[in-house]
Amino acid sequence: MVRVLSVASEMFPLVKTGGLGDVAGALPAALAAAGAATTTILPGYPATMAALSDSSPVHEFADLFGGAATVLRGSAAGLDVMVVDAPHLYARAGNPYLGADGKEWADNGLRFAGLGAAAAAMAVGVGPGDGFDILHAHDWQAAMAVVYLNFHPGERPGTVLTIHNLAFQGRYPAALFPRLGLPDAAFSLNGLEYHGDVNFLKGGLSYADRIATVSPTYAREIMGEENGMGLDGVLRYRADAVSGIMNGIDDTIWNPAADPLIPGRFGRGKLAKRALNKTELQRRMGLEENPDALLIGVVSRMTTQKGLDMLVDLLDDLASDGIQLALLGSGDPDLEDAFVTAAEWNQGSVGCVIGYDEALAHLIEAGSDAFLAPSRFEPCGLTQLYALRYGSVPVVSRVGGLADSVIDANEAALAAGVATGLQFWPATPSALQAALRRLMALWLDKPAWTRMQRNGMAADVSWRGPASRYVALYRSILAERG
Ligand code: ADP
Ligand code: GLC
Repeated sequence: MVRVLSVASEMFPLVKTGGLGDVAGALPAALAAAGAATTTILPGYPATMAALSDSSPVHEFADLFGGAATVLRGSAAGLDVMVVDAPHLYARAGNPYLGADGKEWADNGLRFAGLGAAAAAMAVGVGPGDGFDILHAHDWQAAMAVVYLNFHPGERPGTVLTIHNLAFQGRYPAALFPRLGLPDAAFSLNGLEYHGDVNFLKGGLSYADRIATVSPTYAREIMGEENGMGLDGVLRYRADAVSGIMNGIDDTIWNPAADPLIPGRFGRGKLAKRALNKTELQRRMGLEENPDALLIGVVSRMTTQKGLDMLVDLLDDLASDGIQLALLGSGDPDLEDAFVTAAEWNQGSVGCVIGYDEALAHLIEAGSDAFLAPSRFEPCGLTQLYALRYGSVPVVSRVGGLADSVIDANEAALAAGVATGLQFWPATPSALQAALRRLMALWLDKPAWTRMQRNGMAADVSWRGPASRYVALYRSILAERG
C-alpha cells in the first residue's frame, strides 16, 4: 500500500463548504480499494475537534505561528485523521474561512501556513518507521505543505497538489513572507512570489512533483489566459506535470436506492417511486403539486462562477411556460434577494430556500426532473454527477467538468440513444434560454426523456476509476524518485 497523507481544509461530514469537502471525505475509501492507505490531516476547528475519537497526541509544536499546537491522531467519520489542535488559529465557530461578517479571517495566511507546516512535519515522520510516501495537498489552503516539504533538508515524500478551484489562491502582502519561516529562495519567481505578493497556490504549483486538477477539460482550460486566473503561465511552465483526473461521487451517501434523506427510494429499473420525491419537493418549496410540470432543481453556492445571475432574468418567462424551479443556495446577498423576490412574484412556480441544507440538497436531486448548472467555469462540479445518479436530467454549460460528464442530447446522441442531458455554450442568458427551450421539447417526448434518465443513472460516476488514476500518479512519482 502507498501511504498517503492527504491535507485538506474541509472534509465531509465534519466540515464542508462545497465539493472540496465531499472529495476529501470520499477519496480515502476509494484509494484504499485501489492500493493507497490515506490519513487526512485537518485543522482543529470546533467541528473537527468534536468529531475526533480514540485520539492521542503525536507531536507538539511550542509555537505554530503564534501559539502552542498539538497534532492529534485518531479517527473521525470512520477515517484515519490527524487534527492540528491550535486554538489560536482554528478554535472559531462558523465557516472555516470567513468570520461572522462574511469577510476572510484576517489571519488566514497564518492559519493555512500552520496547516501546511504541521502537515509537512507529519509527512516526513516524527518517529522511526513513521511518515508517508506521498503528501497529497488539496487547493491553496494545503499548498504550503508542498512548499515546506520542498525546503525540508532531509528526505521527503513525493508531492501531489490537486487544484479544485484556481479562483482561490491564498494571496497575501509580501510582509507575510518573513513570518513563514522559509529561506529567501522561496520568495522568487519560481516559488511563492506573485506580482510582489505571496501566493500560496503558486508556491504549491511551483514545487509539487505532480499537479492534478479535477477534470480533463479544466486541465486544458487553465493553461490559457481566459481561465488561468493569472497562473496560466506557471501552469504552462509545469505542463508536463499537470493532469486532469475527474472527481467521482460517494455512491454510498448518494445512492437513490438507499438514501435515508428522501421519501421515495428508487433505482434505474424502478423510476416510478421518484414521483413521491417530486411531490414532496413541490410541497416543501411551495410549488403547485402538479406531476406534469417540468421541475428544474438547483443546488449551488451563489457566486459569479455558478452563473445563476443569468437565470434570474428568465424566471418570469419560465413561470409563464409552466416550468417550475426549486432552488437551494446561498452566497451573494444581491442574488439571494433577487431569487427571493422572484419566488414571491411567481408563487407556485418558483421556490427558493436560502441557506445550507444537506437533506434538502438530496431531495432536490431526487425530486427534480432536470438539474441546472449554468456555470461560467467549473473545475469539476459534483451536483451534476449527483443528478445523473438520481435520474434528474442535467442541463449544463459546456465548461470544465460539466463538459466532461454530460452527453448532450444532440441529434446524433439521441439517435444513438446515448444522451444523458443538455449542454449549452457560451454561458450567456440567450444560450441558456435556448437550452431550456430544448429541454421543454424533450420533456414532452416521454420515451426520449426516460431514456436520458436511465442513461444518466447507468453512467459510472463513482470514485473507482479516478482513485486508480490517483494511485497510478502516486506510483509514477515513487518510481521516478527511486
Ligand atoms: P463547489 O465546490 O464549487 O461549490 P460542487 O458541485 O463541486 O461545487 O460541490 C458543491 C457541493 O456542495 C455539493 O455537494 C452540493 O450538494 C453542496 N451544496 C452547495 N450548496 C449547497 C446548499 N446551499 N445546501 C446544501 N448543499 C449545498
Ligand atoms: C471546487 C470546484 C468544483 C469541484 C470541487 C471539488 O469547489 O468549484 O467544480 O467539483 O471543487 O473538486
